Amino acid sequence: VTEHVLVIGGTRGIGRAVARAQQAAGHTVSVVGAHPPEGAGGATPAIRHWVADVTNEAERTRALSEIVDECGKLTHLVLLQRFRGTGDAWQGEIETSLTASRAVIEACAERFDGRADNSIVLVGSVAARFVAGEQPVGYHVAKAALEQMARYYAVTLGPRGVRVNCVAPATVLKEESAEFYRRQPEILDLYRRVVPLGRMGTAEEVASVVGFLCSPAASFVTGQVLVVDGGVSVLGQEALARRLTIPDERNTI
Ligand SMILES: NC(=O)c1ccc[n+]([C@@H]2O[C@H](COP(=O)([O-])OP(=O)(O)OC[C@H]3O[C@@H](n4cnc5c(N)ncnc54)[C@H](OP(=O)(O)O)[C@@H]3O)[C@@H](O)[C@H]2O)c1
Repeated sequence: VTEHVLVIGGTRGIGRAVARAQQAAGHTVSVVGAHPPEGAGGATPAIRHWVADVTNEAERTRALSEIVDECGKLTHLVLLQRFRGTGDAWQGEIETSLTASRAVIEACAERFDGRADNSIVLVGSVAARFVAGEQPVGYHVAKAALEQMARYYAVTLGPRGVRVNCVAPATVLKEESAEFYRRQPEILDLYRRVVPLGRMGTAEEVASVVGFLCSPAASFVTGQVLVVDGGVSVLGQEALARRLTIPDERNTI
């Protein structure tokens, strides 16, 4: 019996990389997005797409019921949706990241297949702890709250055999942003100098960490936040200053 992985926000970006990796691993994959996947990098054959705005109760309820009816109960649930709308950013971030995640998790709690290992992964951000000037305050607050949501549901869903974890990536290269960074070699050079692993990460590298948490290899891991940032968040200020000013210092702190 194949595993069934539901990816909320899997039509593009990191979510699409998660969906593709899970499909490549031989699992049945259902994807929910607010719009149908578009363009050459859009739909992936063998992945079922459902169009639903998860902030809308009727659309969310219908989609989750159809998904389980047509593709079976869930083995893993991954939530990556984030607000990209034009309206009030605070309200949008809270509704899209938090209220909708809570609603999806509570609706899915009864819909896991009851195998030895079921799990939920919430995709947060390093902006839960650090301040990213390019993102609004609501993004930061929502991402910080998602980490506590993972801990809350780890405790309350643990007795049902459902693990709940959070993955917190730094900015990563994804298909949609690759061209932007190719045209900005100075940004890539800065990443090379600042990140202990010497480069930006990729959507696929976030997807593989999600894959680890959604596998029996992580069967005793719950309520945790796994940071995927090439080590940049453990770099001290002095080390950072030296890396930026003394080229040879990069590997020798
Ligand atoms: N990109 C990065 O470098 C980075 C870094 C740190 C953390 N993250 C986090 O990783 C996650 C994915 O990031 P990303 O850049 O790949 O995001 P993205 O390109 O904006 O994709 C977001 C996905 O969520 C879906 N979505 C948004 N609102 C929805 C709604 N109301 N109902 C249903 N689906 C909805 C979108 O569907 P449609 O396409 O149909 O609208 C899309 O599939 C986000 O939570 C983000 O905060 C990303």
